[in-house]
Amino acid sequence: MQDYIQKLHTAADYIREHVGEAEIGVILGSGLGDYVEAFEDAKYVDYKDIPGFPHSTAPGHAGRWWTGKLHGKRVCMMQGRFHAYEGWSMEEVTMPVRVMSLLGVKTLFVTNAAGGVNLNFSQGCLMIISDFINMTGKNPLTGPNLSEFGVRFPDMTHAYDVELIKLCEQQAEKLGVDVQKGVYMWMNGPCYETPAEIRMARICGADAVGMSTVPETIVARHCGMRVLGVSCITNMAAGILDVLLDEQEVIDTAARVKGTFRALLDATIEAL
Ligand code: HPA
Repeated sequence: MQDYIQKLHTAADYIREHVGEAEIGVILGSGLGDYVEAFEDAKYVDYKDIPGFPHSTAPGHAGRWWTGKLHGKRVCMMQGRFHAYEGWSMEEVTMPVRVMSLLGVKTLFVTNAAGGVNLNFSQGCLMIISDFINMTGKNPLTGPNLSEFGVRFPDMTHAYDVELIKLCEQQAEKLGVDVQKGVYMWMNGPCYETPAEIRMARICGADAVGMSTVPETIVARHCGMRVLGVSCITNMAAGILDVLLDEQEVIDTAARVKGTFRALLDATIEAL
């Protein structure tokens, strides 16, 4: 545990020295990577150069930590995140959030691509996450408590911050963006769910399913950050429509919606 804490501090020190601290953190999900263009004075470091930081060797994976000014606020953005299905441990998946905490981040925006479970949703709509269900059996807080960051049994009543949700809804209305609100169910992946699992998800109260976001949210709450989560419903989940799911559809929909997604995120950060 001491080794892990030391690793977090070493990574945070490296980032602080090269690109500086931030008050707001953004984890960019599928297709949103080019939001970093919105920065006024951006600097980045490659994940592979941050000591002890996980990094993907997959081609086309940006793997950059950006910091700069956005609407007068110091913001850091992760261009590329780590998923449990890639084989990263929970400590690795959530390391960036703990590093953000050491760098002064108090508000975290998490974004993702997700499958729509709620039958009123349609492909390409955006969903503000109101709550989550963890179906993976994993929890990033398993093990000795990192008391430097937070308490042993953190409250999850408001995993997603009520005020931030309201603010985001107001911005959506101003922009004329039709947003949904709902519960995100975290699935292991990497295979998409079966139709039976999606029926179960709906019965359990899920509106969307995805393979990320929840571990980062849990750790951010443990660190005392306020969290806003927004999903792009890139496809209706398995078995709802008479089509098979494929990754290209997820990528294509995320690309089609990214302008709106970015505008909503940007307006919410401006309004903070
Ligand atoms: N299931 C899980 N994760 C996803 C999906 C899905 O249908 N679409 C995008 N990410």
